Amino acid sequence: MTIKEVQDEILRIKKEKDICILAHSYQAREIIEIADFTGDSYQLSRMAATTPNKTVVMCGVRFMAETVKMLSPEKTVILSNSVAGCPMAEQMDKELINGIKAKYPDYTVVAYINTTASLKTVCDVCVTSASAVKIVKQIENKNILFIPDCNLGAFVAKQVPEKNIKLLQGGCPIHAAVTKRDAEIAKSLHPNAELLVHPECVPAVAEMADFVGSTTAIMKYAQESDKKEFIIGTENSIAEHLQYMCPDKNFYLLSKGLICKNMKATTLVDVLRCVQGTGGEEIELDADTITKARKCIDKMIELGG
Ligand code: 13P
Ligand code: SF4
Repeated sequence: MTIKEVQDEILRIKKEKDICILAHSYQAREIIEIADFTGDSYQLSRMAATTPNKTVVMCGVRFMAETVKMLSPEKTVILSNSVAGCPMAEQMDKELINGIKAKYPDYTVVAYINTTASLKTVCDVCVTSASAVKIVKQIENKNILFIPDCNLGAFVAKQVPEKNIKLLQGGCPIHAAVTKRDAEIAKSLHPNAELLVHPECVPAVAEMADFVGSTTAIMKYAQESDKKEFIIGTENSIAEHLQYMCPDKNFYLLSKGLICKNMKATTLVDVLRCVQGTGGEEIELDADTITKARKCIDKMIELGG
């Protein structure tokens, strides 16, 4: 079968079975093309709460499918490929955070949405890269424990200096591996290009950027800018999608290491198998986890606007 034939078959079955396909912007182009909705983590979680379909296929990583399940427990939620996890989401567990909470009881625990459902049960509010600054600003408590990404946490701390933000040593292995030297080399190779980076990059890289934002914010910035060249400091798919969307502009990847193999684990055939009912993994969460973890997702939606 050709790519187009597989896509047509997915579209036919999903219509027949009333299935909604959500895809994170890091997914490959052929998957983005057949999705009902694509976007960053925040937009996907908003979408998950409103989609009317009984079945949702999440093309992304596990925590994103768990978020859909928490917001719509009555729906059948399928993770497109069961190996697609986010390593950052697995870095901390409930026991670690409960231990820190016992030591610092007067701290509000802010969890990046890239965390497991289990970890969210002991946190107060979730944030995404797009909503973190806005949400942290609105938290009444001055003392904040921000987990697990210390780079996003440092970015937020800089924007919200009135808060006392405690960070732990976690982060995205893909973005955090980009160095200041990578940024210097890319800038010298492309002196007219603007550097756009995700806040999961280390502060030394973020400080050199012309713009720091979520995947969707980076895409919006590049599309609306008068500039013609951009160095993209986030996952390769974003540079690829932008190159299709803006053929008159040039996009260069900040580092060749910016490829998330978990986000790339899903293939178009995986999506076909999900809609056929023979592939992917159905997400199951117990009622207690859903009730406790959902509170911090609901709080994020309330404060994120
Ligand atoms: P966004 O919040 O920008 O969608 O990013 C998610 C992610 O996994 C970044 O690595
Ligand atoms: Fe997780 Fe990083 Fe991959 Fe995003 S890019 S899904 S944070 S490992």
